[in-house]
Amino acid sequence: MSFVVKMNGSQNNDIHGNFISGNGVHHVSRWSVKPSEMSKKTLNPIRAIVDGMKLTPNPEKPMIALSIGDPTVFGNLPTDDTVLQAMKEAIDSHKYNGYAPSVGYQKSREVVADFYSCPEAPLDGKDVILTSGCSQAIELAISVLCNPGDNILVPRPGFSLYKTLAVSMGIQVKHYNLLPEKSWEIDLQHLESLIDDKTACLIVNNPSNPCGSVFSREHLHKILSVASRNCIPILADEIYGDMVFPGCDFQPLAPLSSDVPILSCGGLAKRWLVPGWRMGWILIHDRNDIFGTAIREGLVKLSQRILGPCTVVQGALESILNDTPPEFYQGTISFLKSNSEICYSELSTVPGLNPVMPSGAMYIMVGIEMEHFPDFQNDVEFTERLVTEQSVFCLPATAFEYPNFFRIVVTVPEEMMIEACIRIREFCARHYRPRSQDSHELDQ
Ligand SMILES: Cc1ncc(COP(=O)(O)O)c(C=O)c1O
Repeated sequence: MSFVVKMNGSQNNDIHGNFISGNGVHHVSRWSVKPSEMSKKTLNPIRAIVDGMKLTPNPEKPMIALSIGDPTVFGNLPTDDTVLQAMKEAIDSHKYNGYAPSVGYQKSREVVADFYSCPEAPLDGKDVILTSGCSQAIELAISVLCNPGDNILVPRPGFSLYKTLAVSMGIQVKHYNLLPEKSWEIDLQHLESLIDDKTACLIVNNPSNPCGSVFSREHLHKILSVASRNCIPILADEIYGDMVFPGCDFQPLAPLSSDVPILSCGGLAKRWLVPGWRMGWILIHDRNDIFGTAIREGLVKLSQRILGPCTVVQGALESILNDTPPEFYQGTISFLKSNSEICYSELSTVPGLNPVMPSGAMYIMVGIEMEHFPDFQNDVEFTERLVTEQSVFCLPATAFEYPNFFRIVVTVPEEMMIEACIRIREFCARHYRPRSQDSHELDQ
């Protein structure tokens, strides 16, 4: 609605259409352009927390950022040449410059289906929706399963995107606990206690960001039992699938399910180390026809909102998935394992810190015994001062709804990891107060 405001004296409009009176004073605008309710409800907690921190590094020490979940930032983990070659060929073919169907080229969907198909959970092209990164896969999966007013169950600690997306859509988020003392297994009793008649979806993230944990087959069976008993479909975020350390086994959820329908979300970002290429997918596992055609059609309709992911990457998918040599994957994993071990063994001897050794993915969570660090109120202050004094930046786990921990990304070059651990040790030694001494001082 616009109003004409009559004013005395000479009048002009500025470039925005606002009236400016002779003395240059702005008056009531005819315009009313406001951010939507949805945009106002879209909050990324990591940004909210990090932007609120005073991150001024110590000028005498070069900054080491252990906070960014992007394995490409330091250049020490390049993708494989096969992957690059596939992309170059896709461009040179001139075949991938147009629009593809919104769910992806049929051929590219088939390639993904073949890559992940197994006898217990067979897939074909129609079971795959290609998306712009795993993020969009998660967005489509939540959107197709949930209405405003419904709720979803998400892990705590957990990847913050689930909440960001759900809250912006008017979907309530209920957090179920992961147990650090049980290698971050789900507290199944707690999980089940949260379910009500508005629960539309259970999100399971395995291997986990931020924990680096990998669930055993037995544990996955127990999760499926809870979902089956309560008839709750599962969104399995398996973007770190197969990124597990030797001796540990990644078990995708779908082959273990006898009845629970599963939307498994994945992509190229982590395993192939090309997050910027924005290629993801949803694998629809519905052997008992519970999703039926309705959910599939819903996903197709939702995919039409942005007409699918980049076609050049779709053109390269066949070669990326089929020709990348096993040594590439093994090389990444042994690097991640070795860096995790360095970090774990260094920090587990630091008084006041309790790292939890990961089994996969790219992260390690470190518990802070806050009662021994009276200089700081919480993990946010702890990590803020770690930047000020030691120029080391770790993400406070409050960003994952899990205070008193911080998360370290283990993709950084080894020398940086070692240096960072030395600086964290120094920092903790300076601020650590044994509890008995605390109370003794208080008594005096
Ligand atoms: C658990 C988890 N899921 C999904 C994603 C998003 O992946 P993409 O970059 O493919 O959107 C990430 C990225 O960090 C993640 O950690």
